[in-house]
Amino acid sequence: MKRRLLFAALHTPDVVARARAEFDALVHEGDADMTADEVAEAANRQQSEGILFVNTLPFDAALIARLPDSVRVGATSTVGYDHIDLAAAKARGIVITHTPGVLTDCVADFTFMLLLAAARRAHEYDALMRAGWRRRIGQGELLGVRVWGKTLGIFGMGRIGQAVARRARGFDMRVLYNDRQPLPPELEQGATYVADLREMLPACDFLSLNAPATPETEGVINAETLALLPRGAVLVNAGRGGLVEEEALLAALTSGHLFAAGLDVFQSEPDFDTRLAALPNVILAPHSASASVETRNAMGFRALDNIASVLAGGAPLDPLWT
Ligand code: DGY
Repeated sequence: MKRRLLFAALHTPDVVARARAEFDALVHEGDADMTADEVAEAANRQQSEGILFVNTLPFDAALIARLPDSVRVGATSTVGYDHIDLAAAKARGIVITHTPGVLTDCVADFTFMLLLAAARRAHEYDALMRAGWRRRIGQGELLGVRVWGKTLGIFGMGRIGQAVARRARGFDMRVLYNDRQPLPPELEQGATYVADLREMLPACDFLSLNAPATPETEGVINAETLALLPRGAVLVNAGRGGLVEEEALLAALTSGHLFAAGLDVFQSEPDFDTRLAALPNVILAPHSASASVETRNAMGFRALDNIASVLAGGAPLDPLWT
């Protein structure tokens, strides 16, 4: 007997096809992911046993309270889980899973793309070409800053931070990192631990944020910490928008204290602060760091694997509470 799955997010054709083949799947087919109201209604109608969703759905206490008792597992097809109330899920006995591991390198590639583009003004050159070029650019005009050989600070040295560090080594960068504790030496691979973020920042030509959103990391990049970066530094954030106080970031980009920023995540999504888009020294992306065909398929398949395992009476592969 196929298990009842509520597929509440838009996803790739391959993942949807597998969900339909392996489950009694109620697949959402709008032009946006299901809202909390839609999930509550559909889960009760279907008597869902598993729900697949992404970070556009606040899987919070209010929604969990409206779900039928049939729900045994909720799988987010993301690695981040700041949209989920784990305590409320645990209290209801709903297993929660995520998708660590399968998106690490894709997100690190994207982080490095933002870093290179912000430093070397890729988006400005592209805009200039699309406007027709037609005027020779002087030797001193529209200059970026060099990447190779510079110092990169990484805030958050989990899987993705480590993968960013691997890429930085290919650019002959010195890598510093800050996290709650140092990595074992075999994982550091030449990166240097700095226990205090405030001590690391003055040495960073580039700063990459790869930490999750938690109460401890919220607003960690603010007017005070930005001021500790050297003038002309470049900030890249493909972690979570809540890490950065955007008013302070806007001020640092406008004053020139920061040379540029590459941003994939924002304090508010999708209704981000469009004053950022008015700044030429910012390259922007719509929370898309994992958005390759291969990786989104891998994330969706992993979420389905988690659901299948739990509904078959097995252990979740990637549980968020035990
Ligand atoms: C994740 O997987 O957490 C990415 O940020 C995509 O949402």
